[in-house]
Amino acid sequence: MPLPDGYQQRGATIRDTRRIRRLEKRIFPKDAYPLIEIFLLLISPVTHNTVILSYGEEELAGFLSVSKPLLDRPVWIVTIGVAPEHQHRGLGTFLMQYAEHQFSPGRIRLTVRAGNHPAISLYEKLGYHLLRRQRGYYFDGEDGLIMEKDLSR
Ligand SMILES: CC(C)(COP(=O)(O)OP(=O)(O)OC[C@H]1O[C@@H](n2cnc3c(N)ncnc32)[C@H](O)[C@@H]1OP(=O)(O)O)[C@@H](O)C(=O)NCCC(=O)NCCS
Repeated sequence: MPLPDGYQQRGATIRDTRRIRRLEKRIFPKDAYPLIEIFLLLISPVTHNTVILSYGEEELAGFLSVSKPLLDRPVWIVTIGVAPEHQHRGLGTFLMQYAEHQFSPGRIRLTVRAGNHPAISLYEKLGYHLLRRQRGYYFDGEDGLIMEKDLSR
C-alpha cells in the first residue's frame, strides 16, 4: 500500500524522542515505552526506526521500530502505532508493509496483547499467523500472542 496522501515518512532521529514518547503515551496507556527506552531504540544499531508525519502538523502520525535481522533469526516489530486521529487511513498497513519490504525475505514476528483486536485484525489481514500464546506476558497479567509471517512465501 502506498503512503496515503497528505503524509510523509522519514527515518526517526533522536530529535523525535519526545514526540515518540507523547505518541506512545496516547496509544499505549498501559505500556508506553519510557523516554529512556525510546532514546535507546533510536540510537541502537540493531533497530530500524521510522516516523510518519502529517503535513503541517508538529506531532507524529505514526511510529514504527523494527529489530534488524541477526543471522537467520526473525525480525521483530518492537513497536508500531498510529495516532488515533490518523487511524483507519491505511497508515498501520503502510508501516507493516514497509517493515516487511525492508527485511524480505525472512520471517517477521511481533507480540500483541490478546485483547488488542484492531491490531490482531490488521496482522491477520496481512497474513500473520499465531505462533504461540505467552500466558501472563504483560505486567497486568494479559496474555501476549506471538504472531509471525514468513516473507519468503
Ligand atoms: C493497530 C494500529 C497500528 C492500526 O493502524 P491503522 O492506521 O488504523 O490501520 P489501517 O488503517 O491500516 O487498518 C488496517 C486494518 O486494521 C484493522 N483495524 C484497524 N483499526 C481497527 C479497529 N479499531 N477495529 C478493528 N479492526 C481495526 C482492520 O482490519 C483494518 O482493515 P480495514 O480498514 O480494511 O477494516 C492502530 O490501531 C494503533 O496504533 N493502535 C494502538 C497501538 C497498538 O495497538 N499497536 C499495536 C501493538 S502490537
